[in-house]
Amino acid sequence: ATESLNKVPMPKASSALLLTWSDTFPARVLVTGSSTGIGEQIAYEFSRLGAHVFLTARREEQLKQVAKKCLALGASSARHIVADMSDLTAAQKVIEDVGNSLGGLDYLVLNHVGGSEYFGPFKGDMAAVSRSMTINFLSYVQLTISALSMLQESQGSIIVVSSVSGRIGSPFTLSYSAAKFALEGFYSSLRRELHLQQTNLSVTVAVLGYINTDNAVRIVGDKIAWAANPKEECAQEIVKGGVLRQREVVYPYWSLKPLLLFKEWMPGLIESLMDNTL
Ligand SMILES: NC(=O)c1ccc[n+]([C@@H]2O[C@H](COP(=O)([O-])OP(=O)(O)OC[C@H]3O[C@@H](n4cnc5c(N)ncnc54)[C@H](OP(=O)(O)O)[C@@H]3O)[C@@H](O)[C@H]2O)c1
Ligand SMILES: *[C@@H]1O[C@H](CO)[C@@H](O)[C@H](O)[C@H]1NC(C)=O
Repeated sequence: ATESLNKVPMPKASSALLLTWSDTFPARVLVTGSSTGIGEQIAYEFSRLGAHVFLTARREEQLKQVAKKCLALGASSARHIVADMSDLTAAQKVIEDVGNSLGGLDYLVLNHVGGSEYFGPFKGDMAAVSRSMTINFLSYVQLTISALSMLQESQGSIIVVSSVSGRIGSPFTLSYSAAKFALEGFYSSLRRELHLQQTNLSVTVAVLGYINTDNAVRIVGDKIAWAANPKEECAQEIVKGGVLRQREVVYPYWSLKPLLLFKEWMPGLIESLMDNTL
C-alpha cells in the first residue's frame, strides 16, 4: 500500500491529507529544532491540523513564542522542553518527557541542525566532524531508539529532515554532508527492516534544497547565487508527505534532477556527474 501511494501524484487540495489525518486525530507530535526556521513552520502546520505539539531546542524564550503561536493556529496543546542535542542523555530525557506528558507519540519529526555553521574548505578539524555527527546524526538515532516503542504502539511516523547534501557530495560542508549521508543510510535501512518485520511505522525522509531560513541565508547567502525557497511551503510539503506516509519528500521538486540542477543551481554539476574521475 505504501509503495503504490508513493507513485500517486500529490493531491492539490488538502482533502486527502485531512482524511488520512482524521484516523489519528488529534495526533501527538514532537518537532526538534522548532525554535526557528523549518522546524518552527512544521510545528505551525501540525498546529493547523489540531495536533498536540511538543517543541524542543536550546532557546526557551523562542520556544515559548512559538508555542503561543501554535495555540493561536489551532493546536490542541503546545508544550516545550529545553534540550541541547549535543548531549545524548538530554535527547533521551526529551522522549521521557513527551511520554509522561502526552502518554504516547504519533509523529517524531527530527529536524534540528547545529555544530556545522562553518562553510568553507575542509581544514581537517576532527572535533568539528565529531560535533556535527553527534548533533546531526547520533542524537537523531538516540531520539528514535527512545521513541520506538511509543511509535510502534501508535503505528506512528518518523519524519527525518535531510538535504541534497545527504545525496550528492557537497564541497565546503563536509561535516554536515557526512551527517546527512549517515541519516540516509540509517533511516532507509530502518524503513526496510520495519517493513520486513511487518511493523506499521512509516519513515519519511525529506530531501531539501536551499530554503530561506535566517540561519541558512546568513551562512551561505553571500556565497551562492541561486534563490532560496520559502520555508512555509517547504514545511507544508514535509508535513503532507509525512501524514501520507510517503517514503520521500523532495523540495523543491527539481533538487535531485541533474538537468535542472545544472540549470538552476550548480553550474558544472552535469560534467562532474558524467566524469567518473571527479
Ligand atoms: N535551510 C536550508 O537551506 C536547508 C537545506 C537543506 C536541509 N535543511 C535541513 O532542514 C532542517 C532545518 O534547517 P533550518 O534551516 O530550519 O535550521 P535553523 O533555522 O538553523 O534551525 C535549527 C534549529 O535547530 C536548533 N538547534 C541548533 N543546535 C541545536 C542543539 N545543539 N541542540 C538542540 N537544538 C539545536 C535551533 O534552535 P536553538 O538554537 O534554539 O537550539 C533551531 O531551532 C535541518 O535538518 C537542515 O539540515 C535546511
Ligand atoms: C498503519 O497505520 C496507519 C496509521 O495509524 C493506519 O492508517 C493504517 O491503516 C495502518 N495499516 C495497517 C496495514 O495496519
